[in-house]
Amino acid sequence: MAKKGTILVCDDEEIMRDVLETILSGAGYKVDLAKTGEEAVQAYENKNYDVVLMDVSMPGISGLTALEQIIGIDEDAVILMITAYATFETAISAWEKGAEGIIRKPFQNEQILALVARGIKKRRNEEERVNLRQAMARSVNRESIVVHSQKMEDVFRLVERVAPARSTVLVTGESGTGKELVAKAIHEASLRADKPFVVVNCTNIPSDLLESELFGHTKGAFTGAISAKKGLFEVADGGTIFLDEIGDLRPETQVRLLRVIQEREFTPVGETTPVKVDVRIIAATNVDLKEAVKNGMFREDLYYRLSVVPIELPPLRERREGILPLTQFFIRKYNLENNSNISEQVSPEVLSLLENYYYPGNVRELENIIERAVVIATSDEITVDCLRPEVRDPKLAREMIHEGEGASDEIDISRGVNFYDEVRKFEVDLIRRALDQTGGHQSRAARLLGMNATTLNSKIKSYNLFPEN
Ligand SMILES: Nc1ncnc2c1ncn2[C@@H]1O[C@H](COP(=O)(O)OP(=O)(O)OP(=O)(O)O)[C@@H](O)[C@H]1O
Ligand SMILES: [Mg+2]
Repeated sequence: MAKKGTILVCDDEEIMRDVLETILSGAGYKVDLAKTGEEAVQAYENKNYDVVLMDVSMPGISGLTALEQIIGIDEDAVILMITAYATFETAISAWEKGAEGIIRKPFQNEQILALVARGIKKRRNEEERVNLRQAMARSVNRESIVVHSQKMEDVFRLVERVAPARSTVLVTGESGTGKELVAKAIHEASLRADKPFVVVNCTNIPSDLLESELFGHTKGAFTGAISAKKGLFEVADGGTIFLDEIGDLRPETQVRLLRVIQEREFTPVGETTPVKVDVRIIAATNVDLKEAVKNGMFREDLYYRLSVVPIELPPLRERREGILPLTQFFIRKYNLENNSNISEQVSPEVLSLLENYYYPGNVRELENIIERAVVIATSDEITVDCLRPEVRDPKLAREMIHEGEGASDEIDISRGVNFYDEVRKFEVDLIRRALDQTGGHQSRAARLLGMNATTLNSKIKSYNLFPEN
């Protein structure tokens, strides 16, 4: 028979443990026992219980401390305190710390059973609420997003998990890695999906206007404020606001943003009464915010508030296995747009060039390359001469990086360092040596190199390092 619920009983007196165990297991509950507060906390860490019965005075940590620690592990824990000396102060203090109720010794069996039954009911309602919320969350739409590598699988699994919550998310990654795409996916998989998704680029708006853009202003609040204007936070009420390039916020704006996150309210420029809003914040940046914190450019408290859930998007060159599926996705997309019929099957030569290119502009750059190729293709497939010159010729790509032109404006590489080629040569050399040493045994070579075998295998493929036959 399924048990009615799980109970943890914590009391230093053996006789009390026995009595409670007898009453509760007699009523069909599964009971575990702890002799000290420490033991109880540890037991709760291993497995959450439906209800905890906790003695107040015990040697070691007190029942109140154990209560606090268990609430720290599970904020929905249902804990009933038991005490022979139920002073008003203890009761208040237990209640403030999150206890569900207080039971005085000596107690009646029925009293214990009634309180436990009520606790279980509360617990079940809470579980139902959480399940409901999860069931209502939608999954990421894989028709408009290519989830193309293990790393991106992990990213989108996280997206689906955090979507239903309200937590602030910080998306980081180089330019063009898909930060906005991820932010939108979170919004769309959330219960806010039918409310606005508001994008704010913190770089494009002049910094003296940013505050009034975000928080709104009254008529005449400053020169030029000819009429009152709603702030973007108010426009996004109930939905999500996406703060792109968050690293560019001025210190004053950082303070005000911190306040919105903490208090869920803000005061429009020129106004005195604050406005309450329910907005989920997703921030993105391609600069190293931790470094900015160290340099005093970004507030540490704001950084921690923003990065409750950090999502890091790897550069495309670190997920080369995604290049083929993305290429096919973009061929489909631009076939539709241009009413063309270019084959999604790409030739080995074209694929090899695409897979070996460095992509300073990441997925956006690949998308542009494919768009161009689809438009200029003269047959029904993409040929090498449809590719941009720097993709066709690695030497040229390197020169462009050095000249600071074209694709190169997206990355900052000091002149004179033969970056792209050197790293590649170095890596190829190391992989060759490891393969030599292990007689071509890939998983052993991977261990030697300290990388995982799938990574090595994809590098071998993309560098074309198969032994000649
Ligand atoms: N996994 C993916 N599947 C399909 N399209 C993608 C994927 N990742 C990125 N893209 C596309 O690549 C382009 C760039 O993505 P996005 O604008 O989200 O990048 P970003 O990181 O915000 O760039 P920036 O830092 O320059 O603002 C978009 O057109 C986006 O749709
Ligand atoms: Mg962006």
